[in-house]
Amino acid sequence: MPLSVIIGGWFGDEGKGKVVSYLGLVDKPGICVRTGSINAGHTVNYNGRTWKLRILPSCFVNESTQLMIAPGALLKIDVLLREIKETSSASRVWVDVNTGVIEDRHVESERSNEYLMKVIGSTGQGVGAAMVDRILRVLKTAKDFPELRDLTTDVSREVNEELDRGGSVIIEGTQGTFLSLYHGTYPYVTSRDTTAAGVISEVGVSPRLVGDIVLVFKAYVTRVGAGELPGELSMDEVITRGWTERGTVTGRPRRAAPFNIDLARRAVMLNRPTQIAITKFDALFPSARGKRKWVDLPVEARKWIESISEALKVPVTLVGTGEDSMDMIDLRREVIGP
Ligand code: IMP
Ligand code: MG
Repeated sequence: MPLSVIIGGWFGDEGKGKVVSYLGLVDKPGICVRTGSINAGHTVNYNGRTWKLRILPSCFVNESTQLMIAPGALLKIDVLLREIKETSSASRVWVDVNTGVIEDRHVESERSNEYLMKVIGSTGQGVGAAMVDRILRVLKTAKDFPELRDLTTDVSREVNEELDRGGSVIIEGTQGTFLSLYHGTYPYVTSRDTTAAGVISEVGVSPRLVGDIVLVFKAYVTRVGAGELPGELSMDEVITRGWTERGTVTGRPRRAAPFNIDLARRAVMLNRPTQIAITKFDALFPSARGKRKWVDLPVEARKWIESISEALKVPVTLVGTGEDSMDMIDLRREVIGP
């Protein structure tokens, strides 16, 4: 579909980076737009290399894709420049003139805020503090920084023109549905709306143009920071199941719980996806590891996927079976058609 939006179904860290990098490599979109900010770490493993991105779109692995940062996103200049270098993507990175810029004082303000750091469990990256300034209309944006001049563009115009030309665009959401400022487990949430509607609003594209919404669920649920996590397992149990993870940005251990169908139903209601992606499937079914074909999955693994499609009334089209971007079972042709 010409415009696809990729959204997290849990509390972030569902593996959106992997899904977006796979779609980038296979669908080769003209543009990929990153929303959100540097509190969100998206990991890409491809051809034996690992990148932990906090602001660039995970589609960078496809070299023909233009990489854009949404007007509603917030960047930090040192993070942006470092990632451009690490991904060797200088000639195809574009920042909207209105993309907000986080400054050191925003980071300091968050890190000295005990409520935010201790009660909410913020990542302390200055994102919320910069959003406060944005709403007060005192935040500087990309156009105010001479060092960004050569990178700035009109992202919503670029996206709309690409779609009008018949090209394709991927919008990469950040965090997850239940960290949404409005629809999540308030106040234990991040500082923006992370649902599909919020994410397209950050880019400046009409809901009428959205072709696909891909909702990404990891095969189990994780959460970093405070707030409810239904069915939360003890750390010992998390270790036994091999579900131990650490935050990409903060290094904190992630809390974990089994796949939660009620939570998934609510995420489906809030985002109305056309497709579902399941990541880390090999954590549930070790014999699925590295498989790239549906027929190579054990019967019970196929049944589990089918039961999720049925329960949520949305087809599971992508199943991640390993770290590499290409470790994916892609059912889109079978399920949706060419
Ligand atoms: P903040 O947005 O950094 O202030 O963090 C607010 C809450 O959202 C905390 O519980 C964080 O751990 C969580 N959070 C923010 N960004 C991410 C993310 O990318 N993945 C997972 N949790 C996140
Ligand atoms: Mg993450």
